[in-house]
Amino acid sequence: MTAQIIDGKAQAEALRAAVAGEVARLKADHGFVPGLAVVLVGEDPASKVYVSSKAKQTVEVGMNSIEHKLDVATTEADLLALIGKLNADPAVDGILVQLPLPKHIDSAKVLEAIAPEKDVDGFHVVNVGKLATGQWSLVPCTPYGSMILLRATLGKLAGKEAVVVGRSNIVGKPMAQLLLKANCTVTIAHSRTQDLPAVCRRADILVAAVGIPEFVKGDWVKPGATVIDVGINRVPAPEKGEGKTKLVGDVDYAAAAEVAGAITPVPGGVGPMTIATLLGNTLIAACQRRG
Ligand code: GUN
Repeated sequence: MTAQIIDGKAQAEALRAAVAGEVARLKADHGFVPGLAVVLVGEDPASKVYVSSKAKQTVEVGMNSIEHKLDVATTEADLLALIGKLNADPAVDGILVQLPLPKHIDSAKVLEAIAPEKDVDGFHVVNVGKLATGQWSLVPCTPYGSMILLRATLGKLAGKEAVVVGRSNIVGKPMAQLLLKANCTVTIAHSRTQDLPAVCRRADILVAAVGIPEFVKGDWVKPGATVIDVGINRVPAPEKGEGKTKLVGDVDYAAAAEVAGAITPVPGGVGPMTIATLLGNTLIAACQRRG
């Protein structure tokens, strides 16, 4: 079997087009433009790339982008003061603080300082708690984008066996909550799981979010399963020339694609959905907050 390739790039384009249409309508009918504030502390190269992509795509869908690039030596107190200002600023509908933060800053304290109604990452404990208790909330972007891809691929998800490999607050745990909400039977597997290959082989829906290149092997995939690869790992690619690198996911793509029914590629799968859903969350936050 050769798997259907799930086209995250096309799905993300469609979502961004829908967001852009809605932003244009809000501007024409209500005279307001949603604003997304992104805060970057320090010089982490990958974070810098993500933040500039977020700013570019925010502007492309017609929203205001407010960027705060802070020195790596910024104190926790100064960062909390900035978040206080953004919370109070009526032109700011969404606030995203790019992670990871430098070690001298307590990330949990910073995330808790963001007003829950502007928490477009869905990381605030209020939003985490609402998701866990089945209430409406802003939902973390990567799991939200993964769910859109799953629904587009499979339609109804109810009753399916879902295995999420990885238990991070950013992806694994919220992904499991969303699958549960969609009436899947959900297992969260992690580094201490016994016989991980056998657990993965139970999955109709297999989500890999461990951050280890090509960790999930082809023979861990049940024939016909849908595989969502959340990993984005840069690895050496000597076959492309000396010093060259390439991006790979958390799944051994070539082997898994022989067995799976459908699979997300890396790049071009879950990755593009993350910023598109961030823009979707910003639009939702703007509409909720401004009535
Ligand atoms: N760093 C890696 N992924 C994310 C994310 O989804 N949100 C934020 N704020 N930082 C990240």
